This record gives sequence, C-alpha cells and structure tokens, in this order.
Amino acid sequence: MAGPLGKDLLGLATLSAEQIRLVLDTAIPFREISERAIKKVPTLRGATIVNLFFEASTRTRISFEFAEKRLSADTVNVAAAGSSVSKGETLVDTARNLEAMKIDMVVIRHAASGAARFLAERIESNVINAGDGTHEHPTQGLLDLMTLRDRFGDLTGKRVCIVGDVLHSRVARSNIWGLTKLGAEVAVCGPRSLLPNAIGEMGVTVFDRIEDAIEWADALNVLRLQLERMQAGYIPSLREYNRVFGVTSARLERAPRDLIVLHPGPMNRGVEIDSDVADGPHSVILDQVTNGVAVRMAVLYLLAGGKPELAEAAKKGTA
Ligand code: CP
Repeated sequence: MAGPLGKDLLGLATLSAEQIRLVLDTAIPFREISERAIKKVPTLRGATIVNLFFEASTRTRISFEFAEKRLSADTVNVAAAGSSVSKGETLVDTARNLEAMKIDMVVIRHAASGAARFLAERIESNVINAGDGTHEHPTQGLLDLMTLRDRFGDLTGKRVCIVGDVLHSRVARSNIWGLTKLGAEVAVCGPRSLLPNAIGEMGVTVFDRIEDAIEWADALNVLRLQLERMQAGYIPSLREYNRVFGVTSARLERAPRDLIVLHPGPMNRGVEIDSDVADGPHSVILDQVTNGVAVRMAVLYLLAGGKPELAEAAKKGTA
C-alpha cells in the first residue's frame, strides 16, 4: 500500500521538503501516546511488520518495536544469527518467504549500502531503511530534525555542524539531506581522513578546527568514531582524536551562543564526546531517543496509507 511518502522509506535524499515536514508534523501527536499510562492506539491493528536486523542495534530496533506495538501492529524480529541467513540464504529469499506468510512491512538494517533499495525493488511490502551500510539512516535523520525543530522551530538559516567520522556515517548523509532541504546551513568538522573527498559538493562548509565549528554553530551533531568500519590509519590514536576534535565542556564554555549537542549513539565517551557534555545542559541526546519512537510511529502510519489530517484522530484512537 502506498501513502503520502510512497511505498518505501529508503532515504531522505529522495523525500521532498514537504514530505519531511509531513513526517515531523505527524510525529507530534504520536509523541503524546508514549506519555500515557496505556501507550497504545489501534491504528495499525491487523498489520504485520517484520524487523530484519542483520547488524547490531539497540536504539533503532527497540524504537521501531515500541512504535509498532504502540500502534497495535503484530511484529516479528529476525536477526541474522539464528535465522537461515546464517546457512547462506539470500536476503531476497528470506524476505520472499516472509511475504509468503502475508506480511505488510519490512524494517531492515543491513551492513551493505543499498540493501534496503535492493529489497524494496523485489518485494511488494513497504520497506523502511533502518540503516544501510554507509548510505542512509532516514529515521535517525528525521528524529534529529524533530529534536532540532523542538528547540529552534523553523530551521531556516540555523547552523548545524556534524562533527567527526562523516566518512563512515549514514547518519551524516541523512542529516545533510534533511537539513539542507529544510533550509538549515550545514557544516562538517573532523580530520580530513574521516571526511569524504567530495564533501564540498554536498553544499556544506568544512571546518578543520572544532573551536571554529563551535564558534559558528547553533547545534553540533557529534558522530561516533565507527571503529568497526575503519581499517588502520585514519587517526593516530583515540586519545589524540579526543585532544584535537573531542567535544568537551571546556570548549563549549567558549561558545558565543547557547548551542545544543546531539549524538545518534552509541557514544564513545571520552573519545568524540566527554561525559560531562553528554550528560550536561547542552545535551539533547535522550530527547532524540524519545523523538525516535514518535517519528517511527509517524513513518509507519504514513507508509500504511494513514491520512495526515487524521493523525490527531489516530492519537485519540478514533482513526
Ligand atoms: N542511532 C542508532 O542507529 O543506534 P543503534 O545502532 O543502537 O540502532
């Protein structure tokens, strides 16, 4: 079934600014459901959703599962370990077998860039990309936008700097697409070895010094150093990285404005971000996690054909 977002959510590169705003606006009434004693509405009753997580995840997997359950969908979780993928079954065969059991949606996380699109082109169910290799992580981008909008309202002209390992980051790509479509100014900051060669072509400013980025920005989105995706040689050492690029309270104290700090998680405390920043007054990191459930509820609702104007009724359980 195709709704106002189309059949699938594969990335923010392919969404219009209007579609992005639609998800963010739809997420607001859904966020209130998670504040209730009984955190459930019948909106997706009867729908069956499979969460295919072929790569490690805490936040995204659990957040999708909460979103699905709070909308009353039936959910099944499949990991590579323990499934026939570990015996060599292909991704498409796995998905087609699930479709034969009459599912409606697949949420997929996969180590290969393009895996979500590959699947979406081969099955009829709606496909949601929960992170594919170094390509995109659209629901993370959306929850980051929601968190920024909570603080700033309209993002036009707001300055957001993405700090750290941009080279390996699907979060960075989804953020750059989403932020630029909503009119924000975007910069990146990190060692040149961890920035893509063609980063300038994405319309972003590049800072080589974290101090300059902090002076410029309204918000920092601090990325995890993805040590598991790195071959040797990108940085001299973690200690050196923290000394030169670490987001520390001493550095933030010199900021000319009251900037906010985001991090998609999981954090390497003491490497890209110090604990007193992660847990301090600039941090909106746990707000991001709360918004993640609301944004994913909105995405599920809209992909299932939910009418944007009925989101308020869906929240009340009458649509
Ligand atoms: N932000 C994020 O994708 O976290 P997980 O890897 O825990 O899902």
